[in-house]
Amino acid sequence: SKLKIFVTRSDFPKKSISFLEEKYDVDIWDSIKNGDISKKDFLSRVPGASGIFCSLNDKVDKDVVEAAGPSLKVVSTMSVGVDHVDREALKAKGIRLGYTPDVLTEATAELTLALLLATSRRLFEANRAIKDGEWTSPWAPLWMCGPALKGSTVGIFGFGRIGQSVARKLKAFEVSRILYGSAQEKPEGKQIGAVQVSLEELLRESDFVIVTCALSDRTRGLFNKEKFAQMKSTAIFINSSRGAVVNQEALYDALVSGTIRAAGLDVMTPEPLPKDHPLLGLSNFVLPHIGSATYQTRMVMADLVAKNIVAALTNEKMPAELAL
Ligand code: GLV
Ligand code: GLV
Repeated sequence: SKLKIFVTRSDFPKKSISFLEEKYDVDIWDSIKNGDISKKDFLSRVPGASGIFCSLNDKVDKDVVEAAGPSLKVVSTMSVGVDHVDREALKAKGIRLGYTPDVLTEATAELTLALLLATSRRLFEANRAIKDGEWTSPWAPLWMCGPALKGSTVGIFGFGRIGQSVARKLKAFEVSRILYGSAQEKPEGKQIGAVQVSLEELLRESDFVIVTCALSDRTRGLFNKEKFAQMKSTAIFINSSRGAVVNQEALYDALVSGTIRAAGLDVMTPEPLPKDHPLLGLSNFVLPHIGSATYQTRMVMADLVAKNIVAALTNEKMPAELAL
């Protein structure tokens, strides 16, 4: 009989699911009819699965691994972030982990630049003003002004693939300095012309603070009241990593009190952020987690998730395996 693959959503790109259906018995959670899978439903549907095809919404914890049982060989997530997966639980059972690095780097870096420009140049605020009839003088000298990128200092915290790509793209804007915060100095820093500094220096010196690190025990809640206080009062804060690297209450307070100027967020906690959340009442820029959302990227990501599963189940080298 065919091996079973459990798929946590019914809206993954069809081509990648069909590719798996040619080889396996594919069980798909109907997320269109029933919404995102709950933990209870995940536990009741996963037993006997050899592979799990999931997204970053789906917490793959010890309980899920236990419930799947000894058949489980591979968890393949359609994301570069793996903070929703209990890596220790997988490692303990020799289960392999597939993810989607590289293929989403450029899309996510592009979106980060979009956030940076939209926030600094107040695009949504200006757009709302025209819709709300607040555009009363045809042109006013200082209306809707924001800081220029050219000549500015940009600090990038987390200088992995995405952070480095953001730095490369920033060169075109003729920023004056690119600083980065990273556990180690990276050779790419020199090539790009970016300088490794301490987090303290990065916060103190940067006009724009961009976060592209992974969520880990080290970065959870890192951007708190103290960190915002260390930034310039004119600083703009951009987060395209995970909402949980930020203490959101501290961010809200920093924005309202003018501790920093503005924030552009692709990620937040929880996702989805409730419609009446205080952050959404500010004129800053908040997006519904769309960093990797280009058609091209999402198709390639799904394809990679499926190929990771097939490779693991045939004992081949996975195209993108995260060592546990
Ligand atoms: C998106 O946030 C991802 O981790 O791929
Ligand atoms: C993070 O995982 C990155 O690719 O920068």
